[in-house]
Amino acid sequence: MESLSELMHRRRSHRKYSSEPLTEEQVRQLMQAPLMAPSSKRCTPWEFVLVSDEEKKNALGLSRAANSAFAAQAALVVVVTADTEKTDTWIEDASIAASYLQLQAEEMGLGSCWIHLRNRFTADGEATESYVRRMLGIPEKFGIVCMIAIGEKVEEKRPFDDEKLQWDKLHINQF
Ligand SMILES: Cc1cc2nc3c(=O)[nH]c(=O)nc-3n(C[C@H](O)[C@H](O)[C@H](O)COP(=O)(O)O)c2cc1C
Repeated sequence: MESLSELMHRRRSHRKYSSEPLTEEQVRQLMQAPLMAPSSKRCTPWEFVLVSDEEKKNALGLSRAANSAFAAQAALVVVVTADTEKTDTWIEDASIAASYLQLQAEEMGLGSCWIHLRNRFTADGEATESYVRRMLGIPEKFGIVCMIAIGEKVEEKRPFDDEKLQWDKLHINQF
């Protein structure tokens, strides 16, 4: 098994996928990761909507005026939501779970990409969050943090180049 460091080097955003569907076993293995993610006081506020239905994926692809169309080609779109009434750390908790999911996808050789929703709009000017909520019947008290598009990669990407590590972002003892 490759190390976590190797995995983090190799993970890149993939926005092109083959038409191969994921198996039930792949989906199960994928979803174990976010369900293991840490959350504040272990309150596990997240809930995930797994979308593989073609019509719904097409609709999610239209959820933003730009930068979301590739969702329609993904084998699976995982919509990451969290119960805003459970904790004020729901965005952090859900973001960590989404990152775990992306790393798990990479470990399985799958491509994935984060699609942002908050403060984004459809081509018709509807808030992306309310559009996705309406499409998938997500209750109001659940905040929608992101969608993670996942599918079989059609290309390899160059892993992260250590030359690009921004060491100047580190401040020792004082900013
Ligand atoms: C909070 C967040 C929001 C993002 N939103 C989008 C998005 O809406 N659409 C998209 O194509 N990529 C999105 N991305 C992916 C980034 O563009 C990508 O991670 C970044 O360009 C670095 O490339 P890499 O993932 O290949 O290393 C998002 C990533 C993060 C962490």
